[in-house]
Amino acid sequence: MTKALYSGSFDPPTSGHLDIIRRASRLFDELTIGVIYNPQKAPLFTLEERVALIRECTADLENVVVDDFSGLLADYVNEKGFDVVVRGLRATTDFEYEITMAQMNARLFAPGTESLFLMTSPEYSFISSSIIKEVVSLGGCIDGLVPENVLAAIKNKYSKEK
Ligand code: COA
Repeated sequence: MTKALYSGSFDPPTSGHLDIIRRASRLFDELTIGVIYNPQKAPLFTLEERVALIRECTADLENVVVDDFSGLLADYVNEKGFDVVVRGLRATTDFEYEITMAQMNARLFAPGTESLFLMTSPEYSFISSSIIKEVVSLGGCIDGLVPENVLAAIKNKYSKEK
């Protein structure tokens, strides 16, 4: 059985993340979405909210499980015994950061664990969680750029803040 991990902050999860999740879920027996808890960051959505949002929008994907972790990615990967760590590449600018991380992780992962890169679909290549938050906070439209449940949750968050 091949176990893969797709990790990130997912604050919030976007249609770009969901695209990678759907495509990766077809490649492995089990795909875990690992939501990182970083005590140094003040996210818009709490860890519990981010986990719940991803669970909702991946509910139809039977081999997808959602988990959270903190600390070093490689420790989590080795402890859980993942075979593959999936990353999405949006543009050439992602490449330099990703190759550095992949090469460092190659030293830290248990032997045989691979980093594997999927090219983001072009319609999502400009999306990041930060740009989504910025546009919504200033009243711009993000329809189609995040899953429906995320759209509702993010509008709710900002309407409460006003
Ligand atoms: N579609 C849309 N957006 C995407 C995307 C996609 N396919 N892929 C990435 N993004 C966005 C993310 O939302 C994020 O946006 P933001 O910076 O505006 O929040 C940005 O691109 C960067 O993504 P990513 O590199 O995945 O960062 P992250 O914070 O989501 O997750 C971890 C990074 C968790 C993988 C990484 O920080 C980590 O491994 N941390 C643990 C500590 C560690 O082990 N460090 C040593 C590593 S060698």
